[in-house]
Amino acid sequence: MFGREALKAALNSKWAGKHICYFKELDSTNLRAKQEAEGGAAEGTLVVADRQTAGRGRRGRSWSSPAGVNVYFTLILKPDFPPDKAAMTTLVMALAVTEGIFRTCGLEAEIKWPNDVVVNGRKVCGILTEMSVERGRIRYVVAGVGVNVGLQEFSPELSATASCLEAECKGPVSRAALVANILKAFEGYYESFCRELDLSAIREKYNRRLVNRDREVRVLDPKEEFQGIARGINESGELLVELKDGSITEVFAGEVSVRGIYGYTV
Ligand code: BTN
Repeated sequence: MFGREALKAALNSKWAGKHICYFKELDSTNLRAKQEAEGGAAEGTLVVADRQTAGRGRRGRSWSSPAGVNVYFTLILKPDFPPDKAAMTTLVMALAVTEGIFRTCGLEAEIKWPNDVVVNGRKVCGILTEMSVERGRIRYVVAGVGVNVGLQEFSPELSATASCLEAECKGPVSRAALVANILKAFEGYYESFCRELDLSAIREKYNRRLVNRDREVRVLDPKEEFQGIARGINESGELLVELKDGSITEVFAGEVSVRGIYGYTV
């Protein structure tokens, strides 16, 4: 059974998930986490739902959130770092998700830069990080994670590119253990990120998990579209893309999305 008690029993982190707000149903764990943070919730507070009625994805998209099969959670953070560093939190979380998946069910998940987690080329997890800033200082960051876990039917638009852990590992996956393992991994990576204020401590690990690494990618920049070979991230989380003339350009995650030249990942 997935719920507050199962989560409490599974968690083995120091501060991430120390307080758990669990709901059978919510509009969106990110929306609720923002309300909790506004109301003074402490860093490490975790908002979890079994179902979302208005799950939100990046770029204003929705996130399919049926009951009983998946994981939807949002972690509240109250960092001291400047707002321009916050985008890196998403990459930290993406790496933690791959680690959590490996520890829970042994699958070698990969990252499609900056923060989609894929298994065998199909997306199993999305991350949506949002923040509130006042007078140049971060009031809070919320890091929302949705992982497709149990067997389910995907809509026709998603079926070619999405999958779930149980389909990929062909066995049962505990949602509570998965959340616990992600949070445990996140804590360690996030603490080193806060110390260094960059991704130097996790860059190599992240790059090893990068599905686009050394592959031709198309960069969908609103200003111009271009192709090149992805060479991994730098310490700020920008994707290094080698152009035809051998020069390297740094791509910032903001508005840009990256595709494989043949499809979603490669
Ligand atoms: C993406 O577009 O890839 C990001 C999807 C993020 C979905 C998660 S589910 C938990 C949290 N609550 C939301 O409303 N969205 C995030």
